[in-house]
Amino acid sequence: MTVLGPFGLLLLAFAVPALSVPPPATVPAYNITRNDNLAVYWGQDGSGKQQDLSAYCQDSAIDNVIIAFLDVFRGQGGQPEINLANTCSASGNAVFGGTSLADCSFMAPQIEACQKNGKIVTLSLGGADSKVGFSSDSQAQSFADQIWNSFLGGSGAPRPFGGAVLDGVDLDIEQGSPSGYAAFVKQIRARAKGAKKQFFVTAAPQCPFPDANIGDALNAAPFDAVYVQFYNNFCGLDQPKEYNFATWDHWAKTVSANKDIKVYIGAPASKDAAGMGYVDVGTLANYAKHAQKTWSSFGGVMLWEASLAVANNNFHKTIKTSLSAGAPPRPSIAPTPAGTDTAEPAWVTIPTRVGGPIIIPLH
Ligand SMILES: *[C@@H]1O[C@H](CO)[C@@H](O)[C@H](O)[C@H]1NC(C)=O
Repeated sequence: MTVLGPFGLLLLAFAVPALSVPPPATVPAYNITRNDNLAVYWGQDGSGKQQDLSAYCQDSAIDNVIIAFLDVFRGQGGQPEINLANTCSASGNAVFGGTSLADCSFMAPQIEACQKNGKIVTLSLGGADSKVGFSSDSQAQSFADQIWNSFLGGSGAPRPFGGAVLDGVDLDIEQGSPSGYAAFVKQIRARAKGAKKQFFVTAAPQCPFPDANIGDALNAAPFDAVYVQFYNNFCGLDQPKEYNFATWDHWAKTVSANKDIKVYIGAPASKDAAGMGYVDVGTLANYAKHAQKTWSSFGGVMLWEASLAVANNNFHKTIKTSLSAGAPPRPSIAPTPAGTDTAEPAWVTIPTRVGGPIIIPLH
């Protein structure tokens, strides 16, 4: 035992506060094969209290933030559009010249902070109110290249999130033609092959099987996970007799293009999150525990959406605690350095008073 003199005590007095908030030496490793992952959509401000992404990136309950939505595939100037409600949109922020594509590059450090905390950040294409669809496979492939260059590992196109390299894309297709999505996914996979980091492709089908919009693509192209919407449908969590996870599990192992695909229970995070299908936190935790024990395809829980979960007594934290209790401890890793696989900024926006910003291609 060491006896401290007055000088030692003085040192301790300075050292203790610094030690009480150490920088994270390790963070939980994201691992898609686990069955205790929590994914949350973020971006549509369902609560009216949506905070910047950074608020959710500090939340250890969240494993995957899905930014919602890229809701127009081919807008002005042939560019897509993104709408993140109060956080960033074409009406509230600068746009890339000649387009309605919002410049949300202020979010780049926030996205990278999320990734450093062991989370993946993906972008959802579609949504309930969107202008989406392809007229041919070649159009779908070109769009995949555009998405790769603007949000993932590519360059030479507007970068709405600046140098931040998202971890993948999600397809929440609820209207338009179902054709072309398999070609889109295969093209994303082709571009991601050989990249330094892993890119993820997910979808958010409705629970009625098979999904009318994305079902064909799920059979034809390899997805990593499906966030099945067990709400706003007759087969939702509020209809235990019709709840059809078993059908999805069977499909995953026998029909899906990726037989190791993970199936999530997609659930509303509050009564305000869906017209039908909300169940209280204890009921959802029981669904998740049962799924962990019953189905090897089970990957975790998806919640619509982050701001509503926080407003509903931190609904997501209770679900994550329950998921973690049913799974082995998550190994920690050293935080991934920012800027790996980072694209060169290829465009610069210059805000102007009249007519919107102009855009200067740098190469
Ligand atoms: C990911 O989790 C699985 C269990 O689901 C485990 O077997 C595997 O080793 C983990 N991978 C890494 C890289 O930690």
